[in-house]
Amino acid sequence: MNRRARGSPEESAVRAIALGTLRWYLRLLPALEELLERPAAVAPPVRALLTVAAHQVEYSRNAPEATVHAAVDASRLGGMTRASGLVNAVLRRFVGERAALFVRIDASLPARTAHPAWLVERISGAWPQQGVELLVANNAHPPMTLRVDLSRVGRKEYLALLAEASIDAYEIQWSKSAITLNHPVPVNRLPGFSEGAVSVQDAGAQLAAELLQVSPGMRVLDTCAAPGGKTGHLLELVGPDADVTAVDIDADRVALIHANLERLQRTARVCVGDAREPATFWDGRPFDRILVDAPCSSTGVIRRHPDIKLLRRSTDVPALVDTQRAILEAAVTMLAAGASQLSPRLSRPRRRCGQPRCQRWRRARSHNTSGSSFFRVLRRGPTASIMLVSKRQRPGPDVAGSPVRPQRKSRGLSLYRCYARI
Ligand SMILES: C[S@@+](CC[C@H](N)C(=O)[O-])C[C@H]1O[C@@H](n2cnc3c(N)ncnc32)[C@H](O)[C@@H]1O
Repeated sequence: MNRRARGSPEESAVRAIALGTLRWYLRLLPALEELLERPAAVAPPVRALLTVAAHQVEYSRNAPEATVHAAVDASRLGGMTRASGLVNAVLRRFVGERAALFVRIDASLPARTAHPAWLVERISGAWPQQGVELLVANNAHPPMTLRVDLSRVGRKEYLALLAEASIDAYEIQWSKSAITLNHPVPVNRLPGFSEGAVSVQDAGAQLAAELLQVSPGMRVLDTCAAPGGKTGHLLELVGPDADVTAVDIDADRVALIHANLERLQRTARVCVGDAREPATFWDGRPFDRILVDAPCSSTGVIRRHPDIKLLRRSTDVPALVDTQRAILEAAVTMLAAGASQLSPRLSRPRRRCGQPRCQRWRRARSHNTSGSSFFRVLRRGPTASIMLVSKRQRPGPDVAGSPVRPQRKSRGLSLYRCYARI
């Protein structure tokens, strides 16, 4: 897609087709493979074309015959002329036989819900009652949600601006700054977007900075910051005298933080560094607040990133857990006494307490030799859960619009948990 096409209806259409195909890939592929004599011999570009076309036939309102013609044309345009006969024959059979094909294929839960078998097993094992509901929810279309910079424009005021621009939207009750659009629009249609008055950010993600309870004068660290969504929110909350440091290990992604902050017209100390190694970016002065949005399995954001179902492997999880632990342990050493740290959205299928993960977290806490408080998060399902541990300090009332209750107390630490559907 060239630059001129960005934000165009064509871009939206291409994006919707690509995301839809990725979302349903693991259901469409077995159907197509039943129609191919030697599936393994089909070149990847031809396989991709067949899957995109099958997605259009099964999930769009386009006339199936028109989709078959378009796919055959695309095979020629894409230099796959020798495969055009195969594309035509397979897709014609798919159009005619798909009802019967899917009756067979849908007997398998992984295929019906288009998830890899290992993930279905992990989710169903962790949430026996809600497993299927979760898998189905993962295939829903995510809404477009905005974060209003409340220091520049009130939420009601911005809703009025949207209405003037004929964009229907509503407030999310449990977030202070979130507005969800009834239908997604290109960002260049959003009033004040290029000036930084609003950003696109899921409502659940907006809770992180709110829960951190920053205030002017605080020294704040965002450890895994790119592309800078939460950094921007923290800066909006801390105000003009913000002392915010944003660190990420990936230099290319750090460039995205700079671009985001430029649009928001906000300033932070942005650096490339390894959050596991404070010496790579830290000047030794403790932070009052630390946000740890560590890399995770991302199985909690499949609805927005359906490619995770194809890219993530079960074997990735232990290494991610080790990285998360190392980042949290390092973060604790940078925290001022009595300060708080928040770790949102570390998603991975949960395990029961007492199993290795919990033991590791107990170990992390025992490393907190400064006596400072910290928190942790670790669960996702149809709800994202954010757990904040804060020493002798309650995280403001009703942060998520739902009661914030102490979950348990131990050694002077109170654990709070709130939930948000994201
Ligand atoms: C979930 S994303 C962060 C999203 C970001 N907080 C936001 O709200 O826009 C996780 C980030 O962690 C970064 N990361 C992974 N390992 C890291 C490490 N050891 N130190 C610092 N950043 C790391 C990745 O490059 C990635 O940008």
